[in-house]
Amino acid sequence: MPNRLLLALANQEGLARFSMENSALRPMVLRFVAGEGLDDAVPIVRDLNKQSIRASLDHLGENTTDRDSARAAADAYEQALQTIVAHGLDANISVKLTAMGLDIADSVAEQNLRAVLERARAHNIFVRTDMEASEYTARTLEIGQHMHAAGYDNVGPVIQAYLYRSMADIERLIRDGARVRLCKGAYDEAPNVAFRRKRDTDRNFVRLMEALLDKGKYPAIATHDEEIIAHARRYTRRCGIKAERFEFQMLYGVRRDLQEELVTDGYNVRVYIPYGVSWYPYLVRRLAERPANLAFVLGSMAKDSNQASGVRRQASVIRGQS
Ligand code: FDA
Repeated sequence: MPNRLLLALANQEGLARFSMENSALRPMVLRFVAGEGLDDAVPIVRDLNKQSIRASLDHLGENTTDRDSARAAADAYEQALQTIVAHGLDANISVKLTAMGLDIADSVAEQNLRAVLERARAHNIFVRTDMEASEYTARTLEIGQHMHAAGYDNVGPVIQAYLYRSMADIERLIRDGARVRLCKGAYDEAPNVAFRRKRDTDRNFVRLMEALLDKGKYPAIATHDEEIIAHARRYTRRCGIKAERFEFQMLYGVRRDLQEELVTDGYNVRVYIPYGVSWYPYLVRRLAERPANLAFVLGSMAKDSNQASGVRRQASVIRGQS
C-alpha cells in the first residue's frame, strides 16, 4: 500500500516550497504533471487522442478553506470544459469536492459542482468526482447521488478498493446506474476503515471489478497492475462482456507501454492528466506508490545539493576564503 511516511509529507508546506524551488525535482514533477497551465495539457491530450487514447483533465488543487477559492476551483474546471470544446479534444474532467468547498460546507461544494455539471452537460461531457481521504467518502458519494437524482447523468464517483465499505457502495451505485471508476486508493487510511496489506486490497479490487463488469454502467478500471488487467481481460472474454462496455484508465506518466498495448488490442483507454500550480500533494501520492520513484528523487536532490555546494566551494576559493 502507499508509503505512509511519505504520505504524511503531502501536507508539509515547507517541503512543498522546497520542492518547487529545487530544480532537480522538475523532471519528476513533469513526469506526472502536464505543467502548471491548461495550455500545457492541451498538446498532451492531442497526442494521446491521435493514438486513440482518451483523457481526463484534472485541475490540481484540494482542500480550499474559503468560498472565493472554492468558486475559483469551479471556474478552473469550467475553463477546462471550454478548452475541451474549443480544441475538439476527446476528454472529460475529474474534479475534487474539497477543491470546491467540501471543507467549508456540503452545500458550497454541491452548488459549485452543480454549476460545473450544468456547463458540462451542455457539451455532453462527463464529470468524474475523484475520491479523497475516507473522512470525505460518505459526503462525496451523497452529493454525487443528489446530483444524479436531480437529473445529472453526466457525473460519476470513484470507489477505492482498500475501503471495507466499498462493496456495499458499489452495489448501490450499480442499482442507481451510476458510472464508477474503481481504483486501489491513494491515501493513508486507518486499519478500522481500510485494508493495510496490498494483497487484501488487490483481492478486493478483483471482487469489485467483477461486480462492475457484470452489472455496472461503463465502469472504469483504473490501475496499472498487470495481473489485475490480465484478469479483467480474461474475465470479460469468458463472460462475453464486450470491450466497448468498459474502459481502462491510467495516470499520465505511468505505464505508457501498457496503455498503447491495450489500445492496440481493441480496449478503450483513458489517461488522467493533472495540471496546475498546486501539484505538490499529487506528486507525493505518486511517489508514495512506488519506492523507486522516491529513490530517483532523493538521488537527484543529492546530486543537486552536491552541485550547489560545489558551486559554493568554488565561489569561496575565488574569494580566497577556503
Ligand atoms: P499498484 O500500486 O499495485 O501498482 C502496480 C504497478 O503499476 C507497479 O508495480 C508499477 O509498475 C506501476 N505503478 C503504480 N503506481 C506508480 C507510480 N506512481 N509510478 C510509477 N509506476 C507506478 N486514488 C484515489 O484515492 N482517488 C482517486 O480518485 C484516484 N483516481 C485515480 C485515477 C486513475 C485514472 C488512476 C490510474 C488512479 C487513481 N487513483 C486514485 C490512484 C490509485 O488509487 C492508486 O494509488 C494508483 O493507481 C497506484 O495503484 P495501481 O492500481 O496502479 O497498483
